Amino acid sequence: MHASSWDVRAFDLLAPLYDLFMPPADDVDVRKGFYCADRDVERVIDVGGGSGRAASVVGATVVDPARGMCERARDRGLETVRGAAEALPFADGSVDAVLIVDALHHFDDRERALAEAARVLEPGGVLVVREFDRATRRGRALAAAERVVGFDSAFYTAEELIAAIESVGLDPRPVDYGFGMSIVGVRESSA
Ligand SMILES: C[S@@+](CC[C@H](N)C(=O)[O-])C[C@H]1O[C@@H](n2cnc3c(N)ncnc32)[C@H](O)[C@@H]1O
Repeated sequence: MHASSWDVRAFDLLAPLYDLFMPPADDVDVRKGFYCADRDVERVIDVGGGSGRAASVVGATVVDPARGMCERARDRGLETVRGAAEALPFADGSVDAVLIVDALHHFDDRERALAEAARVLEPGGVLVVREFDRATRRGRALAAAERVVGFDSAFYTAEELIAAIESVGLDPRPVDYGFGMSIVGVRESSA
């Protein structure tokens, strides 16, 4: 498996406590990017899905390299696949939507992960990224705090994330701006 970063080891250890400290995922925030899809959204994977906090809202399959996080997601009744965002163990064009919630900044290679998300999407499918904008005051504070506690996090600004999504061949659709932002990438439907 590709990912063996300190962040993954940390989440493996933190898994039993993770849900005690994190608020439940907001149903509307998780779902609204799906409305940009040009197809029905049934097969959904949540990459860096952790304990299944967001995946449980939409019944997504959790993809995460941290064993402990996958165990928590299975406790929630979710399907899990241990794997890294940079080498998704899914065939080309095999899913309708890829979710990445509060996780992209932890990935070893964010550009490779976005390219992998684009590869596994069916035409008309959507990548939905929920992230924190480094250009906001709270975004800068979060980036500094994650560094202080030892995470190897790297945050995009909204403009950088839009450009990164476009660079992997998806049509970027900003859905929410602010400290917490949602940027969607739509895989063009074949004519
Ligand atoms: C802050 S947690 C977010 C979990 C979940 N998405 C949520 O919103 O609660 C970040 C997750 O990213 C995972 N992660 C870190 N590096 C990864 C990688 N290269 N590929 C896939 N997941 C990774 C961690 O194991 C962890 O579960």
